[in-house]
Amino acid sequence: MLSNIERMQNVKTIKDVELENKRVLIRVDYNVPMDDTHTITDDTRIKESLATIEYCIDHKARYILLVTHLGQPKEVDENFSTQHLLKRLSRLLHKDVEFVKDFESFIPVDGKVYLFENIRFFAGETKNDEKLSQDLAKLCDVYVNDAFGTSHRAHSSTCGIAKFVPVSVSGFLLKKEISAFAKALFTPIKPITLVVGGAKVSSKIVLLKNIIQKVDKIIIGGAMSNTFLKALGHDMKDSLLENDFLEEARIILMMAKQAKVNLYLPVDVVITDDIKNPSNIKIVPVQEIDDNFKALDIGPATVRLFEEVIGLSNTIIWNGPMGMFEVDLFSKGTFKIAHAIADTYAYTIAGGGDTVNAIIKSGEKDNFSFISTGGGASLELLEGKILPGVANLNEIGA
Ligand code: 3PG
Repeated sequence: MLSNIERMQNVKTIKDVELENKRVLIRVDYNVPMDDTHTITDDTRIKESLATIEYCIDHKARYILLVTHLGQPKEVDENFSTQHLLKRLSRLLHKDVEFVKDFESFIPVDGKVYLFENIRFFAGETKNDEKLSQDLAKLCDVYVNDAFGTSHRAHSSTCGIAKFVPVSVSGFLLKKEISAFAKALFTPIKPITLVVGGAKVSSKIVLLKNIIQKVDKIIIGGAMSNTFLKALGHDMKDSLLENDFLEEARIILMMAKQAKVNLYLPVDVVITDDIKNPSNIKIVPVQEIDDNFKALDIGPATVRLFEEVIGLSNTIIWNGPMGMFEVDLFSKGTFKIAHAIADTYAYTIAGGGDTVNAIIKSGEKDNFSFISTGGGASLELLEGKILPGVANLNEIGA
């Protein structure tokens, strides 16, 4: 039986359909970070979407309408208008892109590329409203989903629309993302290691339970490792942890043991008694955390242990930082793990907003085999779920 991710690999792409003279609507994910002046501070998602747009232009689409959300506005809010994206998009595409404020004012001209206003300004988008899905569907002959980062959302522009358009296919970015995760999970060169971190066990339980059967080794760092260490009987003192998830942590440890998956936890940690003013910092074994102190990074012995495991892996999936890397003093563990993964000859794949930021900060962005543009979406792929934004696309041979 095909797994969800293998089924998702079977969707048609723009290469499989006729685009000439067709009205093409592409759902992109331009939910990009901006500073106070609305200047885009990371345009990776825009750059990664260009191949799909250019392909549609080259294959003589009648017009191209790009649709995205930006932020999570509950109502119309100019700060989240997609007008702020126009200049950068036009510059990167080397083509004028025209702004479309709403359905009523859209009078398309052949050969043009348009960017629709933030689709979350329109009631019903996040509820996957049928009327909005139909209104969007009326604007195109071919629907292309290339918004990997939003494909875990069942919204009108990512999911509902596909039911009302005769041809619904994937763009190159979406396809590339799914293929990269499929390669890591289903045709990996073994041994395969999952490196997982971040604050909460609760947000990674489904992932861990799903992935135990597929990987050889699991490395756990970040604050979520505190919960595991406490579950094993260590006194983590003031460290951030989830007492409600100690039992789940024990179940995961047991599942790993039964599946003969080696699971590695920190053996030493960097601790402080004051996060805001960390003048008192120590490196201690996990058995020796002082009263009133909290663990904020993995220690050097843990780095060496994790480096050794990473160095022996041929496929590495990374999701979640090893500590509070936003603060320089607690960033060493995460950056060293980024360097260690980047230094291997393994197939290396990373996803999740914080992880990708850490990789960029560490200077290793170009040394990973694949860096996902999706946070929640990449997590759901690892959890083994079908992404609603892919579920309704046309399948090859169907
Ligand atoms: C993201 O940035 O993770 C995606 O664009 C999804 O955004 P959302 O969490 O607001 O749906």
